[in-house]
Amino acid sequence: MPGVNPKSYADFDVLVKQAQAAERGKLHFLFLPDGFGTLFDMENEPPSVTLDVMLTLGAIARETQYLGLLATGSTTFNEPYNLARQFKALDVMSHGRAGWNAITSSTNDAASNYGVKIPSSADRYGRAHETVQLVQALWGSWGREAWVHNQESGQFAKQDQILPINLHGKYVGSRGPLYIPPSEQGQPIIVHAGGSPNAHDLAGRFASVVIGSAYTIEDAKFQRNAFREAAKGYGRNPDEIKFFAGIATTISEDRRTALDRRIRLTESHFPERVAYLQHMLGIPLDFNRINEPLTQQQLNNAQPSPYDPRSLNALKIAKEGWSLKDILAHGVIDYHPAIVGPGIEAADHMQEWFEADAVDGFWINPDVFSDGIDAFVDQVVPILQERGLFHIDYEGKTLRENLGVPDQYGIDPRV
Ligand SMILES: Cc1cc2nc3c(=O)[nH]c(=O)nc-3n(C[C@H](O)[C@H](O)[C@H](O)COP(=O)(O)O)c2cc1C
Repeated sequence: MPGVNPKSYADFDVLVKQAQAAERGKLHFLFLPDGFGTLFDMENEPPSVTLDVMLTLGAIARETQYLGLLATGSTTFNEPYNLARQFKALDVMSHGRAGWNAITSSTNDAASNYGVKIPSSADRYGRAHETVQLVQALWGSWGREAWVHNQESGQFAKQDQILPINLHGKYVGSRGPLYIPPSEQGQPIIVHAGGSPNAHDLAGRFASVVIGSAYTIEDAKFQRNAFREAAKGYGRNPDEIKFFAGIATTISEDRRTALDRRIRLTESHFPERVAYLQHMLGIPLDFNRINEPLTQQQLNNAQPSPYDPRSLNALKIAKEGWSLKDILAHGVIDYHPAIVGPGIEAADHMQEWFEADAVDGFWINPDVFSDGIDAFVDQVVPILQERGLFHIDYEGKTLRENLGVPDQYGIDPRV
């Protein structure tokens, strides 16, 4: 994007500034996805993950005070002891703001960097269930009141409250204990990102937050409900699991300016996107006529693909008479519903989904981080606050307090 430092990807000062922008807007958390494997289009784009999620959040923890810090950590390609140690250290370092996005990794691309093939879903999720339990047991292995650090008596900690866990399952094991005391929120919260039935089950058992992807209100409702039902099945109150759907944002003063910004940012992808849009609409499209609206005949012949839930929206935008280029600039092929326009359009979208009980909240994917987070904070957050839909300030200092996640230390005895 013009005006953006192309070396930002490796610049931690830039990442810290972006996190501070989110905190200025009172956003609850920053979510860092992670993956190891696919390098998409290195000729033209930086990778879409940070250099290292834990090191990044370690740097951000020192320069923010309230923002929750969620990092992705694979249960397939890490040992529980490593995960327990790193995430609790981040939690202590950030004074109780850490969350662990426990995901299983699902591609051979990722597995190949560990010299193996990706295990079956049953094995990945079997290991994930054991790993989360073990990590939580390790977190609880340093007793809550164990740390006395009494200089006069010379007692550092109560040894009899820092105990081994001696857990061994089919996939993983650990003796423990972990040598890290509780943070201000006790221990990190568990997050999950995924949508398969196995994901519902894992998250229903352990997660407080689900980072989701849904293109329609109906789909979001279905997913949210599946997670809530799974939580009930494990004896939890369904309100303990919060479903956040994604939105992609290009916020500008009006629709035209926003569309032009998207065109500048994404037009190098238009040839393959026109090809894909043909499948979504079921009609041939001519790249050479990208500046013209679809003809009446094309619109009459269009048959939205039943296999892609985004197709109906793409056809709706096409029928409004936008040029082919503008149809694409509306983000009709994005991974999340896209808001390309003034802040009020994002606020309306969020209010509609929230009031339909389709979501508990949203995670925001701004088009360009260097100014897209600020645009959201300045042009959407105040509208949501005025409407009474978003908090005016943080409720507390820890992530649990700010998200309303119940206290937990060690394993949840119910699950
Ligand atoms: C919104 C969302 C975010 C995700 N983020 C990550 C991620 O950061 N790293 C990762 O390896 N997988 C991520 N995933 C993939 C899921 O963890 C999961 O592996 C994938 O959906 C395949 O499902 P399965 O493993 O249940 O077969 C994400 C999925 C969704 C829906």
